[in-house]
Amino acid sequence: MAKRTYATDQLEVHWDSGRCIHTGWCAKALIEVFNTEQHPWIQLDAGSLEEIVEVVENCPSGALTYTRLDDGPQERTQVPATIVPWPKGPYFVRGSFEVEDRHGETFDTGPRATLCRCGASANHPFCDLSHRESGFANYPRVSSPPEAD
Ligand code: FES
Repeated sequence: MAKRTYATDQLEVHWDSGRCIHTGWCAKALIEVFNTEQHPWIQLDAGSLEEIVEVVENCPSGALTYTRLDDGPQERTQVPATIVPWPKGPYFVRGSFEVEDRHGETFDTGPRATLCRCGASANHPFCDLSHRESGFANYPRVSSPPEAD
C-alpha cells in the first residue's frame, strides 16, 4: 500500500492506494488530471484548482483527499455521517466515525470511505473490490420502516 502526495504551490492532492477501489470516477470526471496512462498519474497542472477539488471531494473511497495551500477552504467532513449501501458492493460512508477492524486497530472514516460489507476484503475494514469475485448478493437498500397504523 502506498501513499503519495502531488503538489503545486496552491494545492496538495493525497492518494492512499490502500483506500482506492479503482472506480475510475476521478478519471471519468477529469481525465486530463487523473489518468493512469500518464506518469505521474495525477497531473495537477492540467486542471483548475476548483475542478480538482470538486473531483477529489467526490472520490467515494476517500483514497483522494486534498490540502489547500492557498486561502481557500479545506474539505469539511459531513456531520452527521451517512452510510449508504452500494448495490452488490460496499457501504459508502460520508463523514467521520471510528471503525475497529478484527485485530482491534481503529480507523477514522472521514471524510469519505467505502467499507466492506461482503466479508471478502483482504483490506478490512475497507472494500478492496473482492465482492466482485465473491458472489456477493445484492441486498436491498436500507430504508425507513413503514409507518405504523
Ligand atoms: S464489499 Fe467490496 S470487498 Fe467486500
